Amino acid sequence: MSERAQRDHITPAQRTRLRELAQAAAENSYSPYSRFRVGAALLLDDGKIVCGCNVENCSYRLTSCAEQGAIARAVAECGPQIRLRAVAVANLNRAASMPCGACRQTLTEFGDDDTLILYPGEGGHHEETTLGELLPNAFRPESLEPKFETT
Ligand code: THU
Repeated sequence: MSERAQRDHITPAQRTRLRELAQAAAENSYSPYSRFRVGAALLLDDGKIVCGCNVENCSYRLTSCAEQGAIARAVAECGPQIRLRAVAVANLNRAASMPCGACRQTLTEFGDDDTLILYPGEGGHHEETTLGELLPNAFRPESLEPKFETT
């Protein structure tokens, strides 16, 4: 099955479940500074779902986003070969929000242009897009491979 077909194969029930799990993960958010409580749920290519939440720090820049926490957990639990079919993000602040720039890069390491991204839009609407739309022309692992001889 092509990547596109695989993305399209994620059923409405699976999408709802992913959004629910992201929302539930946000309940565990450690966010005393921003009070923006975020959760993420990753659907891996083997069907496993792994969740994470944001974890802030009094040294603010050390904050870990929900997506990053979920990725670290997925690699720890499932190994470095994980691939992302879909990612849902949710927050408990009734805010429209998408993965931040850093998270788009983190997700790109394990996803592809067709990875489905589910996020809360304006007015509480359920929106979706793809990783390729969020981070076009991404810097990828393949970018590190030399393409020409150096002297
Ligand atoms: N945050 C996430 O967890 N994911 C994102 O993609 C956007 C931002 C968190 C980081 C911080 O704890 C809080 O939201 C406010 O920026």
